[in-house]
Order: sequence, then C-alpha cells, then structure tokens
Amino acid sequence: MGFAYRDGALYAESVPLDEIARRFGTPCYVYSRAAIERNYRAFAEALAGRNALLAYSVKANSNLAVLALLARLGAGFDIVSAGELERVRAAGGDPRKVLFSGVGKSAAEIRLALEAGALCLNLESAAEMERVDAIAGQLGRRAPIAFRVNPEVDPQTHPYIATGLRQSKFGVAFADAERLYREAAGRPNLEVIGIGCHVGSQIVEPAPLAEAAARIVALAERLAQAGLPLKHIDIGGGIGIRYRNEAPPPVADFLAGVLDALRGRSETLIVDPGRAIVGSAGLLLTRVEYAKPGAAKNFLVVDAAMNDLLRPALYDAWHEVLPVRRAEPGSGERVYDIVGPVCESADFLARERQLAAGSGDLLALMCAGAYAMVMSSNYNSRPRAAEVLVDGRDAHLVRRRETTAQLYALESIPK
Ligand code: LLP
Repeated sequence: MGFAYRDGALYAESVPLDEIARRFGTPCYVYSRAAIERNYRAFAEALAGRNALLAYSVKANSNLAVLALLARLGAGFDIVSAGELERVRAAGGDPRKVLFSGVGKSAAEIRLALEAGALCLNLESAAEMERVDAIAGQLGRRAPIAFRVNPEVDPQTHPYIATGLRQSKFGVAFADAERLYREAAGRPNLEVIGIGCHVGSQIVEPAPLAEAAARIVALAERLAQAGLPLKHIDIGGGIGIRYRNEAPPPVADFLAGVLDALRGRSETLIVDPGRAIVGSAGLLLTRVEYAKPGAAKNFLVVDAAMNDLLRPALYDAWHEVLPVRRAEPGSGERVYDIVGPVCESADFLARERQLAAGSGDLLALMCAGAYAMVMSSNYNSRPRAAEVLVDGRDAHLVRRRETTAQLYALESIPK
C-alpha cells in the first residue's frame, strides 16, 4: 500500500513512478488513495464506539480530490478561511460538519460560514465574539460557537508549529475562558455549543494531547456546573508522523489518553488531524537536472525547489529522498545536497544525502502529502507542480501543471 519498491523501481500503489513522470512531467506531487484511506481508518477504528467526529484539517492538503475522498469516508472538515469552505463545498463535503477555526476571520468569512450552516465557529478573542454576535443578528440567526482555549501545554515540537503555549497568538487564555463563556451565553445571537483547543503540530508522544484533553475536560465540567453544558469537545489535531527517526506511536495510542480524559462524558469528541491523514500518503517526484560537484559540497540540482516544497527551508524539515530506480551496488554513491533552481541559498530540499544519481534520474521526496503543495508559491515565476492521485493501477491527474500564462493572467500594464 502507498509507496514501495518492486524489482528496484519505486511504485505508487501499482503504478511505477517513472511512468507518472513520463505522463505528467516533473515536478509532480503523487498521492496514494489507499494510504489516505488507511490513515483515515486508523482514526475511525480508534474512535469506534464513541460519539465522535473526525474533522480533517483542510490546510494540510486541500486538493479537491483529496477532500472528496475524505467526504465520502464521512469526514467533517476543519477550515481556516472562506477559500477552504468553498473547496469543501466544491468537493461535495457537508458544511454542517465544518468547524471554522482561525484568529482572523473577516466579516465576509463569518457571514459565509453562517449562511452555509457550518457546525461551529471556533472563536479566538472577545473582539471576534462581538463581531460574530453582530453578524448573526443581522442575518437573523444564532451562531453556533465554541472558544478555542489555550491549554498551555508544551507540545515539544518546532517552535513555529507550537500553538498552545501562553505566548501563542492562538486561542483565548485558559484563565479568561470561563468569563468569555458566561458573556457569550448572555448574547442573544450566539449559541454556545462546544470548546476547542489545539496544542501544536507534529507531536510525537501522546502525553501533550492527553494533558490538553484533561485540562479542557476539567474546564467543560466547570462550565457544566455553572449551567453551561456543552455539546462537543474538540481536542484539535497535531498527531505526528515519522519523517526520519521520530517514532510516534499508533494513532490509537495517541487517542487512548484523550478517550480516557473523556470517559463517562456525553459530549461528542471532535479531532481535527491533518498531517496524520495525508502526510505519509504523498511524495514529490522530481528529476535531476545537473550533478554539480562543488568546492566544498556536491549538489544535485533538481527541477523541484523551495517554491514547491517549503518545509526544508522554513523549518529545516527532513524529508527522505529515494531514487525512483534503485542504483546497482557499487555505482558510485556520493553525499549530495539536493537543491532547486530558485535563487536563494535556502533553496534546498535535502542536505547531505548518500545517493548514486545523475542528470535525468528521478528522485522522490517522501512524506510530502501534508503542508507541501498547499504551501507552494510561484516565486521565480515558477508554475506550480501537477498533482496526481493514484488508485490501484490508475493515475488520475487531479491538478494540472500551471502554465506561465496563468501566472500573469491577473496582471495588467497601466497605459
Ligand atoms: N487544528 C488546528 C486548529 C490547527 O491549527 C491545525 C494545524 C490542525 C488542526 C492540524 O494539525 P496537524 O494534525 O496537521 O498537525 N506548516 C506546518 C504545520 C502547521 C500546522 C498548523 N495548524 C508544517 O509544515 O509542519
């Protein structure tokens, strides 16, 4: 399932990657339907027997084909913009299973979410509460809301993706939550239905999630005692995957602590994973343009770059590099930096990898299903890569490669 070698050639399910490169060109993102489904099922099985909703975090990979696949499996969606809501709807997702998170929702976005009948708006400030109350009033409806509360738990992850600390811009302070809930309950156009949190991403141990769940449950209990019972508890996403030598336990183990914290409670449990669903289910296929021996380092200059996969440049993230055709033993491996054509020294995809590869060879950057294509840009006027979804023997082009003309189609020259 997913990606594996057969007779020295790397396959996506039953399709050889060199065939995909021939048909669709490179750079190209390749996703495995079976891998996405397997990752989804791990959550579904761990949550079986409890009233729960998996709200896939759209920001991790928002290709319509991926969203449609998850919608058909019954997923809800965690979104952070009107754009993501439109994508969910275009993919056939149910807006009534949509949770709207984010610190900066605009008035137009709030209106759109309310009109679409979103399940819940996760509020992140008192100012946002006022805005949602006012807009709901104008629309003549009650807005279903939760607060995203900062549980102040250290997820022990990269500082750029830790979100539940005291100093974080996200969520409302734990100490302020009760006051905000009381105030929201007194507002005519708000219907207080839940509580949420999210402590960070790429968490590789169950403890931070269990700890956050315990704190949020304690708060929910206090609110219930004060006459404010909630319908759901959303513990966010953040479950990590193995990029290199991390050893995250199975999803069921991550959720065991959370389920424990909620034992005996009637609220629906909501989880919003992104990376754990799609991260391992994608790779970035790229071709070597040049092998370039340097004074201090050897480089493989490939046709993908930081504009395609930003994670190495932004977080110093590590993605495994696999040759699409395994080299014969003794074919002259060297240590290379894998770099792109973009004019930045931060334009590297991988550093110091032992490989036997040269001009024309195909390489795969693994675990590139999450926060990869979605974070791509057109820097250096590079068209975005194509995306292909493999299903058994079939390879479907689910996003065409951009053309250069599309890059400046919205621009004009003043007379
Ligand atoms: N829920 C909320 C409220 C979030 O902010 C996020 C991610 C998730 C769920 C999903 O988290 P996941 O299960 O995917 O860890 N670009 C970074 C990751 C940023 C995550 C932002 N929030 C990266 O490439 O590592």
